[in-house]
Amino acid sequence: VVDIRKLYGQRGVFTYDPGFTSTASCESKLTYIDGDAGVLLHRGYPIDQLAEQSTFMEVAYLLLNDELPNAEELDRFTYTISRHTMVHEQLATFFRGFRRDAHPMAIMCGVVGALSSFYHDSTDITDPRQRMIASHRLIAKMPTLAAMAYKYSVGQPFLYPDNTLSYPGNFLRMTFGVPAEKYEVDPLIEQAMDRIFILHADHEQNASTSTVRLAGSSGANPFACIAAGIACLWGPAHGGANEAALNMLREIGRPERIPEYIARAKDKDDPFRLMGFGHRVYKNYDPRAKVMQKTANEVLDKLGVTDPVFDVARELEQIALKDDYFVEKKLYPNVDFYSGVILSAIGFPTSMFTVLFALARTVGWVAQWNEMIADPDQKIGRPRQLYVGPTQRDYVPLDKR
Ligand code: ACO
Repeated sequence: VVDIRKLYGQRGVFTYDPGFTSTASCESKLTYIDGDAGVLLHRGYPIDQLAEQSTFMEVAYLLLNDELPNAEELDRFTYTISRHTMVHEQLATFFRGFRRDAHPMAIMCGVVGALSSFYHDSTDITDPRQRMIASHRLIAKMPTLAAMAYKYSVGQPFLYPDNTLSYPGNFLRMTFGVPAEKYEVDPLIEQAMDRIFILHADHEQNASTSTVRLAGSSGANPFACIAAGIACLWGPAHGGANEAALNMLREIGRPERIPEYIARAKDKDDPFRLMGFGHRVYKNYDPRAKVMQKTANEVLDKLGVTDPVFDVARELEQIALKDDYFVEKKLYPNVDFYSGVILSAIGFPTSMFTVLFALARTVGWVAQWNEMIADPDQKIGRPRQLYVGPTQRDYVPLDKR
C-alpha cells in the first residue's frame, strides 16, 4: 500500500499490485477457483462433472443464465444459437484481404471486431435483450469464423454452417469437410471437441477476460470487446501456451531428451519455461488438465494414433512432478499441456489451437461482459499507477540539448 500524498502531494491511498496478483477487480457469480485445492466450479458445478456429463451448450446456458437449463430451455437455446451461425456474405471478402499465411488469430482479431459493423441492432448495451442477442451472435458465429480462418489458410472453399448438426459437429464439418464430399462427424471426436470447449469456457478474471471487461467498461460495443479479448488470449503466456506446449513437446521429441529440458527450465539464466506448466492461480493439479489427459487417451486410442509427443508429455509430467524445483514452486500441468496432443490428433494445425480456445472462451467472455454491464456498481475500469519518472522540470529548447 502506497500513501501517494507523501510521494507527489496527491490525495488518496492505493495498492501497487503489478500483475494484479492480489487485487479483485469485480464481484462475480460465474466461476470459482480454489487454486490450492485444484477446484474449478461454474455457478457451483465442478468442472469435471460438467465435462463428463453435460454439453457445451448446457454450460453456455449455465454461464449466461443463473441455472442449468431444463430440456425445453436447452432446446430453445440450442435452436437460437443455430439460427445465428451464418455470417454476412460481405464478411467473407474480409478474409481475402489477409495474407494466405496470416496467423489465424490475426484474422480472428480482425473479423470478430468487424462484426460490430454488421449488427447495429445489438449494440445498445443498456438493453438486456440486445446484450443477449449480441452474446448469442458471438457464440454462434465463432465456429463459422474459426472454420473460415482455417479454410482460408489451406486454400479450400468456405462451407456454410449445417444447423442440423450439434455445435461441435457443425464446427468439425465446416473445418474438415469439403463441398464435393459428405462429411460424417465421428461421435467420439465430436464429444472430445465438445469437452475441450467446456474445459475452456470460462476461468474467472484471467488476462483476456479482464481485457474484455476493461474494454466493455467504457461502453464499447460487444464485438469490439471480444476482439480485444482475442488479442490478449493470443500471447504465449495465456492462450498461446497450447501451441507453444505442443511445439515444445515436438522439439523434445524423445523421452531421453526430457532431462535436458527440465534442466533448462530450472536454469534462471535460460528464459526457457516448460510450456503448459504452472499457473497464476492453481498451485495444485489443474482440474481441467486431468480431464484433458483422459480425453487425449480416448482420442488417440480411437484414432489409432501413436503419437510420440503423447509419450513425451506423460513422461515429462512424471519427471517434473517428482522434481524438487517443480514441487517447491507448485508447478503442475495446466489445461494447455495435453490439449495440443488431442487437437493435433484430430487434425488441427498448431496455429489453430488458440483459435479453438477463443471460440470456447467466447462463452465466458460474453457471460462476464453481461454480468459486468448489469452490475449497478459498474464503473469504467481505470487502474492507477505508481509514477517513478522525473519530477516537474522546465522545457529545454532543442538548441540547448
Ligand atoms: N517452467 C519453469 N519455471 C516456471 C514455470 C515454468 N513453466 N512457470 C513458473 N516458473 C517459475 C518462475 O520462473 C518463477 O520462479 P522464481 O520464483 O524462482 O522467480 C516461479 O515459478 C513463479 O513464476 P511466475 O512467472 O512468477 O508465476 P506467474 O503466476 O506470474 O506465471 C504462468 C504463471 C505465466 C502461467 C507461468 O507459470 C508460465 O509462464 N507458464 C508457462 C506458460 C503456460 O503454460 N501458460 C498457460 C497458462 S494457463 C492458460 O492461460 C490457459
